[in-house]
Amino acid sequence: MEVERRCFDEPWSPGQFRHELKVPFSRTVLAWDDSTPTGRLAGYVCRWAVGDELSILNLAVDPPYRRHGLGRALVNLVLDEARDCRATWVTLEVREKNDAARALYSGMGFVQAGLRKDYYAKGEHALIMSLKFEPLGEVPLPPPQAEEYNSAIRISSKGVR
Ligand SMILES: CC(C)(COP(=O)(O)OP(=O)(O)OC[C@H]1O[C@@H](n2cnc3c(N)ncnc32)[C@H](O)[C@@H]1OP(=O)(O)O)[C@@H](O)C(=O)NCCC(=O)NCCS
Repeated sequence: MEVERRCFDEPWSPGQFRHELKVPFSRTVLAWDDSTPTGRLAGYVCRWAVGDELSILNLAVDPPYRRHGLGRALVNLVLDEARDCRATWVTLEVREKNDAARALYSGMGFVQAGLRKDYYAKGEHALIMSLKFEPLGEVPLPPPQAEEYNSAIRISSKGVR
């Protein structure tokens, strides 16, 4: 929860995280820093898989770990999964004023697909961004397996893995 609070003005509550663990089409991947004695959570991405779409609900990188490619690595995990399961779309929502996140997503090929005016508050608009994959066939998304939940990527002195 500390990471979430450091990353967002309106953080998810513990209940929201617990809820995601129960949603069968939700998956959260944690980025874990193994280079500290007890390990430390550095970031995470939460996505939903619904129909032919993967949707990124939450992405956070703790400030000390930023600008080392971890945010891109977490989004890339979702894009890899989208390719593997032949999803057509990866979508997300981002604050119009969130320059860091917008630069990350744009740099990875996401384009603006919509605008929700005053979505967060007056003058705080939400952008819908999406990345489309070429259709590879009519293969539906497989249901996520329980053991996939909360899988982790590791960070060490060698970088993000
Ligand atoms: C957005 C966020 C996840 C980026 O994480 P990160 O690990 O720092 O991102 P990366 O190091 O992988 O950066 C990848 C690219 O994103 C862009 N980027 C990231 N942070 C940026 C910043 N502060 N300003 C401008 N561009 C930025 C750059 O193009 C960067 O590539 P480069 O380092 O080669 O220039 C992180 O800043 C964060 O957690 N912010 C708070 C929570 C948030 O806004 N989440 C997204 C909600 S939609």
